[in-house]
Amino acid sequence: MFGSGAANLGGPRGMLETFAKGADDTAFDARIAWRLLAFVRPHWRRMVVAFLLMLVATGLTLVTPYLMKVAIDQYIAQGDTAGLHWIAVAIALSFVGVFAATAGQRYQLSWVGQRVLATLRQQLFEHLQRLPLSYHDRTIIGVTVSRVISDVGVINELLSQGLLTLIGDTLLLVGIVVVMVSMSPKLALLTFLVMPLMVLVTQLFARRAKVAFRETRARVAEVVGDLAENIAGIRVIQAFAQEDATQERFDEANRANRDAQVAAMSLSFLFLPSVEFLGAVATAIVLWFGGLGVISGEVTVGVLVAFLAYVGRFFQPIQELSQLYTTLQSAMAGGERVLGLLDTTPAVADPLDEAPMPPIRGEVALRDVGFFYRDDTPVLHNINLEIAAGQTVALVGPTGAGKSSIANLVARFYDVSAGAVLIDGVDVRTVTQQSLRRQMGLVPQDPFLFSGSIRDNIRFGRPDAGDEAVEAAAASANAHDFIMAQPDGYETVILEGGANLSVGQRQLICIARAVLADPRILILDEATASVDTVTEALIQEALDRLLAGRTSIVIAHRLSTIRNADLICVLQAGKIIERGRHTELLAQGGLYATLYARQFMDAGELAGEQSEAG
Ligand SMILES: Nc1ncnc2c1ncn2[C@@H]1O[C@H](COP(=O)(O)OP(=O)(O)OP(=O)(O)O)[C@@H](O)[C@H]1O
Ligand SMILES: [Mg+2]
Repeated sequence: MFGSGAANLGGPRGMLETFAKGADDTAFDARIAWRLLAFVRPHWRRMVVAFLLMLVATGLTLVTPYLMKVAIDQYIAQGDTAGLHWIAVAIALSFVGVFAATAGQRYQLSWVGQRVLATLRQQLFEHLQRLPLSYHDRTIIGVTVSRVISDVGVINELLSQGLLTLIGDTLLLVGIVVVMVSMSPKLALLTFLVMPLMVLVTQLFARRAKVAFRETRARVAEVVGDLAENIAGIRVIQAFAQEDATQERFDEANRANRDAQVAAMSLSFLFLPSVEFLGAVATAIVLWFGGLGVISGEVTVGVLVAFLAYVGRFFQPIQELSQLYTTLQSAMAGGERVLGLLDTTPAVADPLDEAPMPPIRGEVALRDVGFFYRDDTPVLHNINLEIAAGQTVALVGPTGAGKSSIANLVARFYDVSAGAVLIDGVDVRTVTQQSLRRQMGLVPQDPFLFSGSIRDNIRFGRPDAGDEAVEAAAASANAHDFIMAQPDGYETVILEGGANLSVGQRQLICIARAVLADPRILILDEATASVDTVTEALIQEALDRLLAGRTSIVIAHRLSTIRNADLICVLQAGKIIERGRHTELLAQGGLYATLYARQFMDAGELAGEQSEAG
């Protein structure tokens, strides 16, 4: 068992890695961009406001150095104090304007951005809830989570910040070039000498950064995958005293991540200073040749000062635009994954002309049902089963025989591969899943509780049920006494996965949940496995009450609990090999009789040992 567990450690990690890898090779894709833009469209008014504010900020940023030039060349040079007052105030105001417009723009963008994010997440969650179990079966939880959290994040970054950065920075660059050239073509050309170097540096950086950042994402995924899996499996790790080996594997992933991060960061540490350095070179060139120009009377002091100011503003947009490229790439990759998820059609699809299931009387029929989860391995063969309203049918058989699979088909978690499942004569595929499941109760093999109070967990299927109804349901599930013994009674908070309750207690709560929902058809999957004999008796009593008057399918390993069933079907390797009532099956002397004799013997031995010990 541990062997297969250890082999599995590589599984999710491997998948996460490929998941992170394939990611960033997506080039710009107009279709993806267009579909993503649809999320911004409802907020177009705010985007227009943000755009106008951006124009104001860009315009004022362009204007201030020009105002300085005017101040120096016209007013200072000519000793015009009144003019100087005005222009100083104008410069101050334009700075205030840039500040206000930028702040306003950022606010609008965050407003839109957070709404786009929330909408995307809401749509994803809605979709995920409707995706069938077959999707969730084959998708690692971590992958789904990262779609809803981080992929959505990069998309938002592009849609809200990226778009306007692109437009704003381009406008600013063009504006600065135009103003510089018109003020002094010669000085402008000299400044632009550093441009080829700039392009070269950016290119070099962008190419390496792409590789380096992709590497970091793969390594982070590995660390996260390792961590999540090992925490989930901590019980097994401790039980087999494999802490050291696990630690070593984690350390390795951790080290690889550290090195990849350092490598990626050194790149940006090199890139940003080199951009600044080139900026300084450009400033020196302007000062040098501009200074010469001033001395020879070719340019004015004002032009020189304005140039110095423009050069200072020139490199920030270049830097931003080069980073935008990375954002664009990861947003495209993220967009592809998110849209891909939204496009996954449920394998179990509600028919287009969906009709709700009318109130159920409770006849269940399986006609020639064949089923496989995956194409290569059939799980059920030619199952025929008729259950009259109000009857209790028990499914028994060895592990892996297909008992839970039948339950899954009746609740339509999966669609049959052949034949049909009929409820009151209606093919379950012709009615909506919700209307069907609302009238069915399921106590799953692996009783799941949500974190929250015991009361809310029982109320899960009928949120409007009052406290009295909840307590009555708990009482008839024989759960009331142990709930009252909990520190806060019904308000006791259940920890994630029901960690603070025993398996038997979790099952009692799940039964109470089913009692409260009061379904016409009830499916109990091994409700009596893994509990002591006292709890088993409690559960048995609760079941007798619960099953009365309903159609029930009970899957049980403890054969003592199904003696009273109207029909017992024995499954083996996906086929019903025996059927009949308890006494009939015993008389047949087949598999059921063997299974029963074995359990009876075990129970007998156990009782013998106990009496010896006592
Ligand atoms: N989600 C799934 N995807 C693929 N195969 C599955 C899935 N669930 C079950 N199977 C396969 O289907 C077969 C029947 O499984 P099923 O869960 O119905 O058995 P079971 O009779 O309920 O067994 P147990 O008594 O152990 O609960 C098994 O071989 C199992 O490997
Ligand atoms: Mg099962």
